[in-house]
Amino acid sequence: MSDTRPIGIFDSGVGGLTVFSEVEKALPGEEIVYFGDTARVPYGTKSKETITKFSVENVEFLMEHNVKLVLVACNTASSLSLDFLKRCFRVPIVGVIAPGARNAVDSTRNNRIGVVGTNATIISGAYEKAVKKISGRITVYSRSCPLFVPLVEEGWVDEKVTYEVASIYLKGLKSKGIDTLILGCTHYPLLKGVIKKFMGGKVVLVDSAREVAKEARFILDANGLLNKNPGRKRHKFFVSDEPGPFIRLGERFLKRKIKCVRTAV
Ligand code: DGL
Repeated sequence: MSDTRPIGIFDSGVGGLTVFSEVEKALPGEEIVYFGDTARVPYGTKSKETITKFSVENVEFLMEHNVKLVLVACNTASSLSLDFLKRCFRVPIVGVIAPGARNAVDSTRNNRIGVVGTNATIISGAYEKAVKKISGRITVYSRSCPLFVPLVEEGWVDEKVTYEVASIYLKGLKSKGIDTLILGCTHYPLLKGVIKKFMGGKVVLVDSAREVAKEARFILDANGLLNKNPGRKRHKFFVSDEPGPFIRLGERFLKRKIKCVRTAV
């Protein structure tokens, strides 16, 4: 069996390109439709009701493109709206929380895991609940790091100021002796260097983007939904505001040119 329909990915904006990039690597035969809700970003400061309403609309948009699987790249949307989305739609929908939590549980040796994310993600306790569901013996320490997103969007991924901000946010987690840290936000994989420098080489950084890509491959394979006859792929990118800023920032995220970005109407 082979299924040539595309995979749909949505995020609050450009950050979900970290998931796009991992999915492209893990599933090179698949076509991707990406939607970034650039007109309404950020989600990390908004309420559950608002994020859920936006997320439903985003999935509806992807469904118009006949996607076979939806990946919720946005950690905030995954934390607050995934269960509701799964009840509303028949297409398989995968968020970043469970795959990231599973990987962190596999990685920890001392049962102390840290999580960083947006305010909304951390307040939701979604990662903590997902970890506890797998193992009650693990203690999860969480910290919201709201300045990380604008720092990444400014391109300051290796600046002194970013290191200083990281040390303020992360010192509490470091003092707890965590051996694993979940990067619970689309933008944070770009700060791996700074975070590693502060936390030390022994702390394992769990990249939820990479984990959700593995999960996507597993689900497509298990359900006979892989595209076994890939032709010339043309990924499509849609945004809800004008494409210019998405293209400029997105090219920094992906380290290559992005073509075919349109405003969704
Ligand atoms: N995409 C969001 C997340 O992963 C970060 C940006 C935002 O706040 O919308 O949580």
